[in-house]
Amino acid sequence: MEKLVIEGGKPLNGEVRISGAKNAALPLIAATLLAPGVHVLHNVPDLRDTRTILRLLESLGLVWEREGTTLKIDGSGLRYSEASYELVKTMRASVLVLGPLLARLGRAKVSLPGGCAIGARPINFHLMGFEQLGVCCELEHGYVDAHIEGRMQGGTVYFDIPSVTGTENLLMAASLAKGETVIKNAAREPEIGNLIDMLSAMGAEIEGKGSDRLVVHGVEQLTAAESTIIPDRIEAGTYAIAIGAAGGDSIIKGCDPGHLPSLLEKLRLAGIKIEVGEDYLRVMASPLKNSIHPVDVTTMPYPGYPTDLQAQFMALMACSSGLSVIHETIFENRFMHVAELQRMGATIQIDGRIAMVKGLENKRLKGAQVMATDLRASSSLVIAGLAAEGRTDISRIYHLERGYENMVDKLTGLGAAVWKENE
Ligand code: EPZ
Repeated sequence: MEKLVIEGGKPLNGEVRISGAKNAALPLIAATLLAPGVHVLHNVPDLRDTRTILRLLESLGLVWEREGTTLKIDGSGLRYSEASYELVKTMRASVLVLGPLLARLGRAKVSLPGGCAIGARPINFHLMGFEQLGVCCELEHGYVDAHIEGRMQGGTVYFDIPSVTGTENLLMAASLAKGETVIKNAAREPEIGNLIDMLSAMGAEIEGKGSDRLVVHGVEQLTAAESTIIPDRIEAGTYAIAIGAAGGDSIIKGCDPGHLPSLLEKLRLAGIKIEVGEDYLRVMASPLKNSIHPVDVTTMPYPGYPTDLQAQFMALMACSSGLSVIHETIFENRFMHVAELQRMGATIQIDGRIAMVKGLENKRLKGAQVMATDLRASSSLVIAGLAAEGRTDISRIYHLERGYENMVDKLTGLGAAVWKENE
């Protein structure tokens, strides 16, 4: 097993280029199941999670090849409809094959993803949505066995909570259903707009992009198309917070600042200077202690503050000059990073889904041996390690590699002292 080692206390100065978005690449790769022919996807990040979903597509009969950041996937070979527990348990986003398999084959047997570190992560909204389209979903032996005779029939789907992958699954299923499907209280994350653009290029007829009400007019068939993955807003936000915490003056290139409306406001309130370009962010922060103001954050569905940037912001607030309150409203257990930050000297008190973070005033976090527990928690520990005095060793960094491409190279390019070692 490898660990990440960080010699903290160095300001981050330089340039970092953002990769394609993990949470757009996963649904867009799954969407290639909807049509035969060679799909071309540009700006696809090479991550543990993208490699996992490509292995899943192989197990269903598809073939693919990667040329740099371009993926060519041939949807013609689809012949199986079962996603095994072995694959799904490593990445719950594997449930994204449900919609396309039902649309293309009329059946899908997918292992229930099971929970993960941040919560139970049920998929009841997905299954209720499919049932509105006439699908029969049976749960047995840890699998969901879904099937329908012939084509799905358009209907109305309402999400109690605007589920991101739930919206994506239903969009893909409804694209080939007979008639019109209305999705109400749909999620509005930019990754969904990216999927809508790809489905439209494949011949789907979808209205309401960017809104919480999507209308899909089902078509008989779709054809392979060429698409580009949007920049990863969570990766960009992670680096912006890291520069804020460690101090420095850096440019985050190849991002879309319009996808980070709430984070940029919070960073400005924290006293960090942000210059917004069309496809870059310049972040300027003092490396002096007490230069970060405390700011309260409540996570909300897009365009609210992203839950995927909550852990990272907490590391920043641990370095602030006062008390901040962080309210995690999306997941029931997304404070796994708190115990590790406390090992580095952070003063944080949890009460249910509320964390009260007392900044360090005239002190700094101290490097320590810590353990990654989930993808975004691990990036929170990286940020804390960059801002801390001394050395931080982060174990179980396979979590980090699920969603951050070439992080060691990117941080080194910003002047950080960071490297990998064998545990
Ligand atoms: C997506 O997960 C993202 N993953 C997550 O990013 C992100 O944290 C999450 O959306 C929220 O923004 C991908 O896009 C691959 P949800 P998803 O369905 O779709 C509850 C990362 O770090 N819910 O929007 O699984 C659920 O428990 C990952 O990149 C149900 O109750 O999240 C949660 O409390 C982590 N029943 C809330 O809704 C359902 O059927 C939002 O979940 C579905 C969801």
